[in-house]
Amino acid sequence: MTTRDQGGDDVQRVRDASDIVAVVGEVVSLKAKGREYVGLCPFHDDRKPSMYVVPNKQIFHCFACGAGGDVFTFVQRYHAMEFPEVIKLLAERAGIELRPRRAPASGAASGDGPARADLLEANQQAAAFYRSLLTHPEHGVAARELIERRGITPDMIEAFAIGTSPAMWDGLVRFAKSKGLDERCLFALGLLKRRDDGDGYDALRNRLIFPIHQAQTGKVIAFGGRRIDDEDEPKYLNSPETSLFDKSRTLYGLHQASRAIQKQGVAVVVEGYTDVIACHQAGITNVVATLGTALTAGHAALLRRLCTTVVLLFDGDEAGQRAADRAFEVLFSEALDLKIAALSTATDAKDPDELLKRDGGAEQFLTVIDDAQDLAVWHFARIRERLANAGPAARSTAVQEELDRLVSLGLSGLPPVRKKLMVQQIARAAGVDEATVYASIPGGRTRRHGTSGEAELKPVSHKPDARELALGCLLCEGSLWVSLAGEHRDRLSAHAYRSPMTRVVADAVQRLTSDGIEPELTAVLDDMAHEATDHPGSFDPVEAAACATTLRQDAWMRCEGKLERLSEMLTECLESIGIDDALVGTKNNDAEPAPEGDSALERLERLKSVQATYGKNPRVRLTRGGVPGQA
Ligand code: UTP
Ligand code: MN
Repeated sequence: MTTRDQGGDDVQRVRDASDIVAVVGEVVSLKAKGREYVGLCPFHDDRKPSMYVVPNKQIFHCFACGAGGDVFTFVQRYHAMEFPEVIKLLAERAGIELRPRRAPASGAASGDGPARADLLEANQQAAAFYRSLLTHPEHGVAARELIERRGITPDMIEAFAIGTSPAMWDGLVRFAKSKGLDERCLFALGLLKRRDDGDGYDALRNRLIFPIHQAQTGKVIAFGGRRIDDEDEPKYLNSPETSLFDKSRTLYGLHQASRAIQKQGVAVVVEGYTDVIACHQAGITNVVATLGTALTAGHAALLRRLCTTVVLLFDGDEAGQRAADRAFEVLFSEALDLKIAALSTATDAKDPDELLKRDGGAEQFLTVIDDAQDLAVWHFARIRERLANAGPAARSTAVQEELDRLVSLGLSGLPPVRKKLMVQQIARAAGVDEATVYASIPGGRTRRHGTSGEAELKPVSHKPDARELALGCLLCEGSLWVSLAGEHRDRLSAHAYRSPMTRVVADAVQRLTSDGIEPELTAVLDDMAHEATDHPGSFDPVEAAACATTLRQDAWMRCEGKLERLSEMLTECLESIGIDDALVGTKNNDAEPAPEGDSALERLERLKSVQATYGKNPRVRLTRGGVPGQA
């Protein structure tokens, strides 16, 4: 263990308790493939599963974008967190208590205001308070009556952790005092508001409380409160957006629904809290809701990781139509089959909650979902309706405007099938043929509108050279280091690598081996994570992890996972590096000066002997010989 590694035990315990297949599987749908698992890579716009999760090595690696690392890297990248936060998150998930590490700098990272962990804790306490009130002989009466009237079962109360807030101005205030809770957190979360005199009062009063959970961890990040008394306004009161809660990236019920969504490959998005609960209660569990907004690209990105089809179920009213119209733009940001169904046109119910209370309601609901229409088709049908009575000039203008809008959204960059569908639809709306529409789409690649995916896509890494391949061999099997002669170790020293990221990896190998630790991938990832934490800004640990994992995977694939082959390959690489180093100076224009006393003739002699052993072009041997096929 390195000296700074005092938290090492903790890290190890958390690692042992966090199976990478389980952790990744919570957000990515994984399929077993041989001894590995594959799924859609969440780090780029993946259309066919490119991400491998390797259980026996506890690593993941994407062959398309090069993302990779261990369970910590995955979470770090997925949630854009710092390493210490990742440890905390996974420790919480596994129910492991961490030994407090040196305290400083926590909070400094998150700028002003309370730290994230404190906010989560305060939310958790508040949720427990609201829940406990539901069984309170006095303060829970009205909420229990409402629940009874709405037919919400105890199972759902449990699954969605429903609670109630008392009809008091100081219910939470007093609870906070009695528990010694930090009021600053409750203010920051919007659960307490400030009076003119600076004192706090409850923001949520006399309401049924729906905690909003973070999808992966189930932590409470916000609350929705429905009025109990119909006189109160507004009907629903939600937590304000905070550092924990971003409405455009949160779906109500996703924590409870994600498994079913993954299994079925379909997510249903409804409009309200009570609709989600009614669906789950009816056994339809792949259902989530937006929080009073239209479906955004952020929501789509969340769902895209779990499924391929999203059905939007909306009320037929104006607000619902507008939300559906806005969701149309999402089609351009995520490769999702987005469908739409208006409940009120298919049935006479105003929302799922109402429908599911009727006899046969669940069957009707499922039929509506099955019959959902492609959102693009629906969108253009609306346009056709609007243009039904327009003259040719007005129609032409309208279609051109629509086309311009689609192009600015990224029509040109859509996958071919989707693009063709759009073009067909526009052609129908305009009453022209498809060729005419194609002709009016600018050919140039339009910047895609989306948030996820392409922006993050790193160029696929170059073919490794011998030095990088040797490093990869060590990352596969750290014990190979022990067998290396001193000169070979020197050849792998960090400064000799061509790419800065590889040098970061080689640095870690050097640090570990000088401490007598075998430089296996996991050890290297750990070391780099700590190094990046200790020297913020010196390199990006997530990038470095991807680099190390790519190096390892590349070596592993090349020797087809065979240990003997690995050791042979390492030897070949080291020889080749030796040759390369020996060749330095045989070319006239080489920047590196030849060793002292090395005449041109001597260099030529050496080159000849090298060629006698390895053939005319020694470098080819490695890149051609026995490399198992790899995309
Ligand atoms: P609805 O008014 O359709 O409510 O709003 P609902 O879900 O059917 O609720 P019940 O059945 O009357 O209890 C749909 C969603 O819009 C958001 C909420 O998320 C709600 O679930 N909303 C509505 C608000 O945020 N604020 C409001 O004042 C009203
Ligand atoms: Mn309702």
